Amino acid sequence: MKEDDIVLEGADIHKSFQTGAETLHVLKGVDIRISRGEMVSVVGASGVGKSTLLHILGALDRPTKGKVRLNSTDVFALSDKKLAYFRNKTIGFVFQFHHLLPEFSALENVMMPRLIAGEERNSIKEEAKHLLSEVGLADRANHKPGELSGGEQQRVAVARALINRPQIVIADEPSGNLDPSTAQELHDLISELNRKKGCTFIIATHNQLLAQRAHRIITLAHGKAMPS
Ligand SMILES: Nc1ncnc2c1ncn2[C@@H]1O[C@H](COP(=O)(O)OP(=O)(O)OP(=O)(O)O)[C@@H](O)[C@H]1O
Ligand SMILES: [Mg+2]
Repeated sequence: MKEDDIVLEGADIHKSFQTGAETLHVLKGVDIRISRGEMVSVVGASGVGKSTLLHILGALDRPTKGKVRLNSTDVFALSDKKLAYFRNKTIGFVFQFHHLLPEFSALENVMMPRLIAGEERNSIKEEAKHLLSEVGLADRANHKPGELSGGEQQRVAVARALINRPQIVIADEPSGNLDPSTAQELHDLISELNRKKGCTFIIATHNQLLAQRAHRIITLAHGKAMPS
């Protein structure tokens, strides 16, 4: 693994949660490196800290200790404002529940990260349409999320995650809410985006079929990450 191929690096990540008098030490020194073009899955028992780790790697939450570098930028050294901009530009997120905006069409939801960044509607429309067709939803562009199936909603969420051409897509249980055959279609889509477009993915999942599609599986246990 060449140093300059590393997209995302977490070094000695610790995370504790304080609830009342109790301290819960969830992550106890996690080291993780993801190379450009890799698809990596993170597995481990429920409550072990997979979502906590992904939130930190995605700069949505700060670690108690440790560093996250994305494209060599020390993300937590940025001001909150710069960090929000940097995160929007460089990371795509897909969660178990799609978090699409119900009032907006599929196409507008895909465009949203760039609309938020202040870009002109017309300049992003074609790219958003192209992404929707890549996820197999060219004919659903004007549907609102409530008019789409669960699988289709997740595909819109994937297209939205890609609209800023992110350096990495962070997915937390992306197929956790789908029936087995719809889940498999989503897994096919993720694998294809990785293989054909070179999209880099880190995916936390309980789904063995999805985990096994990755180049590498990292197991979280007792606050540490280990290769499987
Ligand atoms: N904001 C918080 N405050 C207090 N405790 C928290 C907080 N967030 C998570 N935890 C605790 O940290 C631990 C790890 O949670 P996390 O959601 O990362 O687990 P997970 O591996 O993603 O589990 P699952 O497979 O069920 O999604 C859990 O014991 C959880 O209760
Ligand atoms: Mg989780």
